[in-house]
Amino acid sequence: MNNSSTKIYRKLDLSRLPKHLAIIMDGNGRWATKRGLPRNMGHKAGCENIKRITQNIYDLGIEMVTFFAFSTENWKRPKDEIDGIFNLIRDYMNEYKDEYLEKDVKVMFFGELKDLPQDLTKAMEDIMEKTKNCKKMTVNFAVNYGGRSEILRAVNKAIKGRKELDFNGFEELLYTRNLPDPDFVIRTSGEMRISNFMLYQMAYSELYFTKTYWPSFNNKDLQHALINFQKRKRRFGNIK
Ligand code: FPP
Repeated sequence: MNNSSTKIYRKLDLSRLPKHLAIIMDGNGRWATKRGLPRNMGHKAGCENIKRITQNIYDLGIEMVTFFAFSTENWKRPKDEIDGIFNLIRDYMNEYKDEYLEKDVKVMFFGELKDLPQDLTKAMEDIMEKTKNCKKMTVNFAVNYGGRSEILRAVNKAIKGRKELDFNGFEELLYTRNLPDPDFVIRTSGEMRISNFMLYQMAYSELYFTKTYWPSFNNKDLQHALINFQKRKRRFGNIK
């Protein structure tokens, strides 16, 4: 995030951006296979794209972005692919923690983090601690995250508390306590589903699907998606 070179396209209204953008990064494997590369090269390219797109989001002035990096279902993948993803996350955090701090960007992880390898949780805790007071932007990573598990975990906590809860009380028990709901969710690669991502929080999110594989999704694609968001009428159940 060193040089602010994000081109702003004319049709984008910078005063009407989503406050919280969430991204389901899909298509890394297909991106690699199409190029005759191993799947992990797709994740590596996907990881590099997190860096580029975060810079674009930062330059546009969006306050919060959440990337879905590893789901509770991704444990079904071969061990070397899983290890490769974890290595990428760990190296990324170690490499960029100073830069995030310098740019006043808070980094947060949510999901069942305690079940991840220790060196990975250590890298996550380091960057979370280092950037906890940063104010300009927040970047969240959902890792070992599943929407259903999150809801079930909250329900079990509520039962233990033996007290009827209202929405605010229940939301306090989710991983995302203190985070606003995502206004806009982008999923790359052409799949049109939400795959257990932020099930509770996405109740009124605007959804956007693009065929582009995540490693190829660029600043232009991002702004195209945001222009589409700006054409939506958000009614939240109301009539206008
Ligand atoms: C989905 O593509 C992608 C993932 C399951 C992993 C995403 C992880 C990263 C980009 C690395 C994370 C790095 C950081 C810094 C958080 P897929 O493998 O399901 O693609 P396919 O559907 O084409 O097989």
